[in-house]
Amino acid sequence: MSETMTMKHLLSVEALTIDEIHALIRRAKEFKHGENVTLKRQVFASNLFFENSTRTHRSFEMAQKKLGMGVIQFEPSTSSVNKGETLYDTVLTMAAIGVEVMVIRHPQDEYYADLLHLPVSIINGGDGRGQHPTQCLLDLMTIHEEFGTFEGLKVAILGDIRYSRVARSNAMVLKRLGATVLFAGPEFWYDEAFDAFGTRVDVDEVIKEADVVMLLRVQHERHAGDESFSKESYHAQYGLTNKRWKTMKPGAILMHPAPVNRDVELADALVEAKNSRIVRQMENGVFIRMAVLEAILKGRGVL
Ligand code: CP
Repeated sequence: MSETMTMKHLLSVEALTIDEIHALIRRAKEFKHGENVTLKRQVFASNLFFENSTRTHRSFEMAQKKLGMGVIQFEPSTSSVNKGETLYDTVLTMAAIGVEVMVIRHPQDEYYADLLHLPVSIINGGDGRGQHPTQCLLDLMTIHEEFGTFEGLKVAILGDIRYSRVARSNAMVLKRLGATVLFAGPEFWYDEAFDAFGTRVDVDEVIKEADVVMLLRVQHERHAGDESFSKESYHAQYGLTNKRWKTMKPGAILMHPAPVNRDVELADALVEAKNSRIVRQMENGVFIRMAVLEAILKGRGVL
């Protein structure tokens, strides 16, 4: 068993050192190979998702149950949120009834800012246009499993960059880890703030040279009022079409955080192509979340 780390909260990947990122990936690989832990006492978690989720929500629940934690269900649509309860009051209540660890996804950037003094550990499951740290960590684990390193890899991030917390988390950390980050996609969905982490390039060129082609979901829910979008036109101009896929380098992989808009970001059949790691990303999500939860449980003295 490798050395494990301790954590109070996980809010962004920026707060993690390179050594801590590698420690979490190592530990996630150990969980994947069957290692587990025994808790010293009963611990309850709750997953508060104020935006829709399949993967993050349910893989956290799976990780919590695999670690022996109790999981208290919470659905905003049937809770007192409908009577005007604030996020602060929901978290205060859950803490009062004995929940110690909360995974929260919320549309507000940095929703966690005024929650951190409460006696709970918070794991950010996605904040507005901010970060999605466990998605980033599972993406890193998947890349590391494939290549054994980040140094010198060319990682292309394609698509709806402006609105993507996955792009923001991944671009920052991949640069720190020694990868070259390249961006491609529509000008209107690019944000110059990303110039700090990589270079914008032509979509056809980047697909030929990247080791990792990371596609982003078109976030229709964040494009309210934009009636001009055409799925066919986006796929032809910026998507991973079958024709573009055939130009990928030997050994290169394709990734997507999912859910996938089939025949928009990538051609339908490519979701399960031989060099697609999309299903592996979902699988790894459980193990990286076990590693994060373990670090938090250790920080709370439960391990
Ligand atoms: N990738 C991801 O965050 O998926 P969900 O929205 O289904 O959690």
